[in-house]
Amino acid sequence: MANICVIGSCSMDLVVTSSKRPGAGETVLGESFKTVPGGKGANQAVAAARLGAKVSMIGRVGDDHFSETILNNFRANQVSVDYVEPVTGMESGTAHIVLAEGDNSIVFVKAANDEVTPAYIDQAVQAITAADMVLIQQEIPEETVEHVSRICAERGVPLLLNPAPARPVKDEVIENAAYITPNQHEAAIMFGEGRVSEALRRYPNKLFITEGSSGVRYFDGQEEVVIPSYKVEAVDTTGAGDTFNAAFAVALAEGKPIADSVRFANRAASLSVMKFGAQGGMPMRQEVEENL
Ligand code: RIB
Ligand code: NA
Repeated sequence: MANICVIGSCSMDLVVTSSKRPGAGETVLGESFKTVPGGKGANQAVAAARLGAKVSMIGRVGDDHFSETILNNFRANQVSVDYVEPVTGMESGTAHIVLAEGDNSIVFVKAANDEVTPAYIDQAVQAITAADMVLIQQEIPEETVEHVSRICAERGVPLLLNPAPARPVKDEVIENAAYITPNQHEAAIMFGEGRVSEALRRYPNKLFITEGSSGVRYFDGQEEVVIPSYKVEAVDTTGAGDTFNAAFAVALAEGKPIADSVRFANRAASLSVMKFGAQGGMPMRQEVEENL
């Protein structure tokens, strides 16, 4: 059983569905409104747990009415919340999601997620050193990601950085990470437009560009490889990236070869988009294995 530590955001997703996405100054009629647990960190923790890993989450919630729902959801999914501490007097993070015209658009409000500070990480170092793999994203402060990358490099714990949402990333963090999984847009922000192929060659078996429905691209030391994704009927792609990252981390932590780990992660992600909600379709281990 892989031991995974996820460091990142915990949020409530406030999701409306509408046939049309409103433009500036426009009001449109929506069809439904639902509140479901989300946040890239929490999503990755839940996905990893469903895939059979022992997972501990390092993050923060507020002391509002969403915090209990977020914590209970972790418990229901067997994710340890020993290091998810409520911030007094603050709101939990929220993601305001519009599902329209076959895609999502999201406004993310960090709130308590901004309190995942380097000092907060220091009192949770045990969870990092106990892990076979640490998984981190970018809905928490930049200096925290830098701090975690140093801890992981010093202690020899492999770090998987999912650089989402997009922002520039320091060379130090890129060096310290064992695996990095941007989409094309995030890769362009990190390495510069038109310099992504060059970056792929510079980081063999480390940089994995997720290209949505076409698959995952990386350089294996010899040649550029594309592992195609599985074609499915998508209901809601929110959280597909999180499922991919969690599954990739679990497979790698179990010692699976890289190409097999990508395939496993592609399959898990493809299953996740077939149901509503970021965590709604996240598969259990057996479901992925039966469909490989
Ligand atoms: O990756 C998907 C997640 O990012 C959603 O659950 C939402 O919280 C957004 O911020
Ligand atoms: Na889903």
